Amino acid sequence: MSSDRPVAIVSGGARGIGAASAQRLAARGFTVALIDLPSDPARLHPIPGPYRQATSAELDLATAACGGRGEAHSADVRNGSEIDQVVAAVLERHGRIDVVVAAAGAVAGGAPVWETDDDTWRAMIEINLTGVFNLARAALPAMVGAPEPRNGRFVAIASAAAHHGLPQMAAYSAAKHGVAGLVRALSAELGDTGITANAVAPGSTDTEMLRASAAIYGLESVDGFVDQARIGRLIEPDEIAATVEWLCVDAPGSLTGAIIDVNGGFRA
Ligand SMILES: NC(=O)c1ccc[n+]([C@@H]2O[C@H](COP(=O)([O-])OP(=O)(O)OC[C@H]3O[C@@H](n4cnc5c(N)ncnc54)[C@H](O)[C@@H]3O)[C@@H](O)[C@H]2O)c1
Repeated sequence: MSSDRPVAIVSGGARGIGAASAQRLAARGFTVALIDLPSDPARLHPIPGPYRQATSAELDLATAACGGRGEAHSADVRNGSEIDQVVAAVLERHGRIDVVVAAAGAVAGGAPVWETDDDTWRAMIEINLTGVFNLARAALPAMVGAPEPRNGRFVAIASAAAHHGLPQMAAYSAAKHGVAGLVRALSAELGDTGITANAVAPGSTDTEMLRASAAIYGLESVDGFVDQARIGRLIEPDEIAATVEWLCVDAPGSLTGAIIDVNGGFRA
C-alpha cells in the first residue's frame, strides 16, 4: 500500500543545508526520511582535518523540526548496502519515493595535490561523490517503477567547486565536478520518465562545513569568505533549501540536467 502523502529522502539531513531542505519539504506536505551518520561514533571513518560530522542528537533535532513528518535513519552514504537498507525500509513503510535530496557532504584539504594523503582523497570522493551515486542507485528503481504520470525529483547538492578548482581542496573539487557529471548523465538516462535530475551549486553558506573550511584555510572565521560573493555576505542554508524546495515542488518537468548556481555571484 502506498501512502497518500509524498515521500522525500534527504541525506545529510541532521543539520545545515540538508536539515533546512528537510524542514521545507515537510512544510510542503512530504513525509521526510532524514539520513545522517551512524549513532555509534566508533563506526565512523575519521576524516582528516577539522570537519566533524553531525551527532545523532543533531539528527534527532532536525527530525523533530519536521513537525511529525520526519523520520531519522542512521546510515553512512559511503556504504551502498546501508543506503539500500534505508531505501528498503522507507518503501516498506510508505510504499513510494517521490523526491531524493543528496545533501550529505564533508570537507578536507589544506595541501596541494602533491601533498594530499590517501585518507583525504578517499574521504572526499567516497562521501561527496560515491555517496550521491549510492543514493541515486538505491532510490531510482522505485521512482522509475512508479505508475504514470511520474513526477519524481532527484536533487544533488554540488558546490561552486563543481565549476571552479579550489586551491588546497583538489579532492573536494574533483568530487563536486563529479557530482555535476553524474547528475547530467542521470538526467539523460531518465529521459522521458517524468523524473528530473538536477544539482544546486551553493557558494559560501553559513554552516559547520564552512567553519571547517575556514579552519583549513587558516582563516579566523567564516567572515573570511564574505568577499567570495558579490552580494557581500554569506548565504543562509535556508536560501539553498528554498531552491531545493522549488526544484522538488514547483519547477517544470523540462528543467533537468541543470547545475543551478546559488552562490551570490561567486568569484574564486
Ligand atoms: N556550506 C557551504 O559553504 C557549502 C558550499 C557548497 C556546497 N556545500 C555542500 O552542501 C552540502 C551540505 O553541507 P552543509 O554546508 O550543510 O554542511 P554540514 O556539515 O552542516 O552538513 C553536512 C551533513 O552531511 C553529513 N554527512 C557527512 N558525511 C556523511 C556520511 N558519510 N554519511 C551520511 N551523512 C554524512 C554530516 O554529518 C552533516 O550533517 C554538502 O554536500 C556540501 O558539500 C556546502
